[in-house]
Amino acid sequence: MNTRLTSLFDLSLPVVLAPMALASGGELAGACARAGALGLVGGGYGDLAWTQREYRLALQVADTAAQRARIGCGFITWKLDEDASALDWVLDQRGEDRPRALMLSFGDPRPYGARIAAAGAVLICQVQRMDQVPQAIEAGARIIVAQGAEAGGHGMNSLNGRATMTFVPELADWLAAHAPDTLLLAAGGIANGRTLAAALMLGADGAVVGSRLWATRESLATPQAKDQAVQANGDGTARSAVFDILRRKHWPAPYDFRAVRNDLHRQLEDRVDALRADPAPARARYDAAVAAGDFSAAHATVGEAAGLIHDCPSAEQVLQRMQREAAALWR
Ligand SMILES: Cc1cc2nc3c(=O)[nH]c(=O)nc-3n(C[C@H](O)[C@H](O)[C@H](O)COP(=O)(O)O)c2cc1C
Repeated sequence: MNTRLTSLFDLSLPVVLAPMALASGGELAGACARAGALGLVGGGYGDLAWTQREYRLALQVADTAAQRARIGCGFITWKLDEDASALDWVLDQRGEDRPRALMLSFGDPRPYGARIAAAGAVLICQVQRMDQVPQAIEAGARIIVAQGAEAGGHGMNSLNGRATMTFVPELADWLAAHAPDTLLLAAGGIANGRTLAAALMLGADGAVVGSRLWATRESLATPQAKDQAVQANGDGTARSAVFDILRRKHWPAPYDFRAVRNDLHRQLEDRVDALRADPAPARARYDAAVAAGDFSAAHATVGEAAGLIHDCPSAEQVLQRMQREAAALWR
C-alpha cells in the first residue's frame, strides 16, 4: 500500500494519527511513529507547557532518527488566533527534533502558512466542506484532509457537514483538476482495514485516524471513557454544542462536537439555547461527573467508528491489524 503519503514520510502504512487534543500525547504519537504511521501530537487549544512536554515525550518514544522523522503536531486554528506560542515553540525545534508536519483545523490557516513553510514542515489542513479548500491551498497546504461528519470530536454541524463517502471522491476530483500535487487524506469513520482500503478506493492517499487510536493503551483518555466507547455502537454518538457549552469552550459556528450521547447529553440536546442562556446548573453536574469519572454525564469523545471498536489494545496492534487487513483487500 505505497501511496504519495507513505513516500513523503517514509511510512509503512498510509495512516496519520489525528492530533486529538488531550488524547494524542507523546506516548501515542511516539507509538504510532514506531509502528510506521505519522504521529501528530494533539496540541489542540495551544497550551504551551502541555505541548512542550508531550512533543518532547513523542521524540523520546520514537527512538530512532527514522521514527523521529514521523513526528509532528496539530493545532486548532481559531485558538491560535488568540495565542500561537505553542505553535511557535514547535516550529523553533531544530535538527531531528523539528516537526515534519503541522496540521491545522477549524479556522483560516492562511496567517500561519508562511511560518510553517519557513520551518520546513509539511502543512496539513483539515477541511469539512469544498468551499474551505481554496483557503487551504492558498495557505500552502501540501496535504488536505477531508473530514466527514462521522468523525469524533469537532467538525461541521449537521446543517453544513459532509459524509466521508461523497466528500473524499468529490475533493479527489477537484484536486486532480486544480492542484494535482496536493495530497488528500480521508478522516471520519476510518477504523479498520476495510475502511482504510475504502478511503484509498475513494481517491485518498491515506487516512487520518482518530477514534480508533483514541481507544488504545497509549491514549491519554481515561480508562472509563475508553470502556464506554468500546461498549457503544455507532448509533450511540451524536453531534451538538452541548459538551462545548458544559466545558466552557467557546467554539465558533458552524462547528460542533461528536461524542457518546450519554444521559446528560440526552437531557440537554433539545434545549441547547436554554443551556447556553443558563449553563451553571448543568455545568455543576458535569464538573462533578468529570471529577468522579461518571460517564453518564462526563463526555467520551468518539465518533461513529465506535461501532467498529471492540477492544483497547496497543496502538501498534491497531495499526498492524489495519495494515494486514487493508493490504489483503488492496491486493
Ligand atoms: C478525542 C478526539 C479529539 C480530537 N481533537 C482534535 C483536535 O484537537 N484537532 C483536530 O484537528 N482534530 C481533532 N479531532 C478530529 C480528528 O482530527 C479527526 O478528524 C477525526 O478523529 C477523524 O474521525 P474518526 O474519529 O472517526 O477517526 C479529534 C478527534 C477525537 C476523536
